[in-house]
Amino acid sequence: MPDPTAARLFDTPMPLPLSALQNSPSFKALQPHAERMAQAQHSMRTLFANNPRRFAEMSLEAAGVFLDYSKNRIDGPILQLLLDLARERGVESQRDAMFAGEKINRTEHRAVLHTALRAPRSARLSLDGQDVIAEVHQVLDRMAAFSEQVRSGGWTGYSGKPITDIVNIGIGGSDLGPEMACLALRPYHHARLRLHFVSNVDGADLEAVLRSVQADSTLFIVASKTFTTTETILNAQSARAWFLRFAQAADLPKHFVAVSSNSALVRQFGIDEENMFPLWDWVGGRYSIWSAIGLALMLAIGPAQFAQFLAGAHEMDRHFQHAPLAANMPVLLASVGIWNRNFLHCSALSIAPYHQDLNRFPAYLQQLEMESNGKSVGIDGQPIMYASSPVIWGDCGTNGQHAYFQLIHQGSDITPVDFIAALHPSHILPGHQEQLLANCFSQSEALMRGKTADEVRTDLGHAGIAGSAAEALVPHRTFPGNRPSNTILVEALTPATLGALIALYEHKTFVQGVLWNVASFDQWGVELGKVLAKKIVAQLGHQEDTASDCDHHDSSTNGLIARARAVLSKQAMSE
Ligand code: F6P
Repeated sequence: MPDPTAARLFDTPMPLPLSALQNSPSFKALQPHAERMAQAQHSMRTLFANNPRRFAEMSLEAAGVFLDYSKNRIDGPILQLLLDLARERGVESQRDAMFAGEKINRTEHRAVLHTALRAPRSARLSLDGQDVIAEVHQVLDRMAAFSEQVRSGGWTGYSGKPITDIVNIGIGGSDLGPEMACLALRPYHHARLRLHFVSNVDGADLEAVLRSVQADSTLFIVASKTFTTTETILNAQSARAWFLRFAQAADLPKHFVAVSSNSALVRQFGIDEENMFPLWDWVGGRYSIWSAIGLALMLAIGPAQFAQFLAGAHEMDRHFQHAPLAANMPVLLASVGIWNRNFLHCSALSIAPYHQDLNRFPAYLQQLEMESNGKSVGIDGQPIMYASSPVIWGDCGTNGQHAYFQLIHQGSDITPVDFIAALHPSHILPGHQEQLLANCFSQSEALMRGKTADEVRTDLGHAGIAGSAAEALVPHRTFPGNRPSNTILVEALTPATLGALIALYEHKTFVQGVLWNVASFDQWGVELGKVLAKKIVAQLGHQEDTASDCDHHDSSTNGLIARARAVLSKQAMSE
């Protein structure tokens, strides 16, 4: 099969047929608009100047989340065509199929039902004869009972002390979700409980946490949907070995619980079924924070606030299900993203939360969007001849401004930004919130407006710099502007608004996956590295210095293994 990325990157004349997306009437009709929008009279500056209602027309609120998408290089006709495209590509029917529990994860023959995890008790949904909602609420009830016990101090460690530290051991979706949400909801935490997250197979991660906790008051949550993930199992084994230096095997049930869909492996690890909280194969790892994978979060904020978190997400689900496309926030956010990616050719999207507690939100969205839509083959198995997921990256404002925003303002690539802020602060220090929000709003204004050469000359004139000295500076101090961004606001970062915000991005990712026609719910791309790592681990463990053991790889990989073996074997001999 020809490599479609090669054709895109190097413009080689590959005779590949146009895909259904590219053949759709709206997609074709959108092409000339991209050229039109490159003309000065269609710059965002001009569009704002010509239409005082632009903000009102291109912003909306749903489930406590406000989205302003007016600072994008779009106008009414483009928006209309983008929505037509969503309609033509079957976004509405695919959405309905997802909510109904159809097996839309075709490459794994599974339903995709993270939305059922936040449906109220009164909802009805059955899958393969099972009452999904009843099962979900049964697990939520068990999680709530357990959380209450731990939070009240009724659940004690082997020496009779209440739990003070909770260590979640997981990786990917079994780490990023709970960690991001626990950080985001810091003000809601139980005063006695400290939360720790261990994901990296680098032992330094676990070791640092173990140094800071006491065995008799620590609860470990081993969170792994499959319970086969090497990093998590090794970290869990090391944590158990550490624990048994202080306690007896009979004490393990008070200190180790598991979240998994693989009860056999959990049992084999030594955790009883009554200490295991299940999830189902229809919950994708990166969509699992709403399931028992959220146990660390429920322990931190309590069952009532966790219910609010679910309720916020459910409200966004209802909006996504029922709002017309033109007023549907996930659809609009996704459509603007498609425009930026496939028509303006922006290869990245930067996430800039102006809220310190949303520190891990960019990393969370990285997994959500890049693992879901980082594909170059369509659902039909054919190469797609257009770009799919952009690179998602970012950091908290205002830190990013003093690091990489230079590139966003003046770099050779155009990187759209999602600015995210809460209007109420989560602290009581005076003066900070105004600074924070002013920075957030001014960045998007600067990106949109830019600064013309004449404006620079005027400024330089005011500073007493003129003539050739001024002209030498003008190109450096000119900002092109016309750079796209969205601004997403919540009144305050609460369990409910966080839930709605995450659900917004989940549905945006879903819509984009439908438009790109990729299998958004699998992640085969991570498998090859895992398989190769298993072989290399065995080779690194070999003590005899026989280079031939490693000769199965290319010369680079062989060379790297040999270098590592030399150091590791010396270290082993000196121990
Ligand atoms: O390897 C990728 C991945 O499967 C992610 O999709 C998932 O979130 C992560 O690993 C962890 O998986 P598990 O919960 O099964 O340990």
